[in-house]
Amino acid sequence: MSTFPELRLRRLRRTPGMRKLFRETELNAGDFIYPLFVVDGDGAAQPIPSMPGEVRHTLASLVEEIDDIVRLGIGAVILFGIPAAKDEQGLSGLDPDGIVPRAVSLIKRQVPQLTVITDVCLCEYTSHGHCGVVTNGEVDNDATLPLLGRMAVVHAKAGADIVAPSDMMDGRVGAIRQALDAANYKHIPIMAYSAKYASAFYGPFREAACSAPGFGDRRGYQMDPANALEAMREISADLDEGADAVMVKPALAYLDIVRQAKDGFDCPVVAYNVSGEYSMVKAMAERGWGEEKRLALEILTSIKRAGADVIITYHAKDAARWISEGD
Ligand code: PBG
Ligand code: ZN
Repeated sequence: MSTFPELRLRRLRRTPGMRKLFRETELNAGDFIYPLFVVDGDGAAQPIPSMPGEVRHTLASLVEEIDDIVRLGIGAVILFGIPAAKDEQGLSGLDPDGIVPRAVSLIKRQVPQLTVITDVCLCEYTSHGHCGVVTNGEVDNDATLPLLGRMAVVHAKAGADIVAPSDMMDGRVGAIRQALDAANYKHIPIMAYSAKYASAFYGPFREAACSAPGFGDRRGYQMDPANALEAMREISADLDEGADAVMVKPALAYLDIVRQAKDGFDCPVVAYNVSGEYSMVKAMAERGWGEEKRLALEILTSIKRAGADVIITYHAKDAARWISEGD
């Protein structure tokens, strides 16, 4: 191996052309999933204060948004519903005429080739805001499973291409797989939020989706940020139960987990660049402490470099534009 002065690693960095030629990691709009919040009701989209640039869509405002997303070549969308009414069991999430099924069928009618993913979880629909049914003050794992299975089937019936359970109940991938198969949706994949951590970075999302827990927190079901081996157990359990793709969430503080997942399993790895990671960049840019384009592309590149095949990101549309501009 040569060393300095024969070795000069700066030679290949000298021009934009050479930097591009030897770049190891490329971002593609087609690898991004863009999250969409859909709210029951009429009228215009509502801006989300905690997530500048993001909105809660009504079915009416969704139409134009979908055209943009398709034009930009974004790989898929993932839908989160904000229902008109919430109850103890989250029953509005099981309604075939609920906000998510209506949004899915609208999108699929407008652009059949756009891949539509739905988030399967109760927290957006329960009055207490927890991801499962609450029995005697505790989130009841086994009582939640049939509801998740029913929700997945409702989404598949509406035309969802992929379902993505985010609740972190044990056994939910198996329960959803069985429910889908029994309803003749054997072809619908499950993208499991496998290593989902109890993170402070979900704050802006909970404001957006009005889904903050009314009591306690989610540490009884989401993972402890200190644990990595456990993430591998979660991933292998989900794959054994029939998950088609696995997810690590959040992304930025968990890039080591993304890498371990990619090296340890031969399945697609998805990373969720969550709301707090997005809003952090927005806040820096707003204060003039950094340039949004460079911050966002650096973060997305690091997630890809860590091993993510697919990235869920609120920056998807801007990033798609920035990638096509080049640097
Ligand atoms: C609901 C859900 C959450 C997110 C995705 N699905 C919030 C939570 O678990 O509290 C967070 C996404 C984000 O912060 O962007 N289970
Ligand atoms: Zn939830």
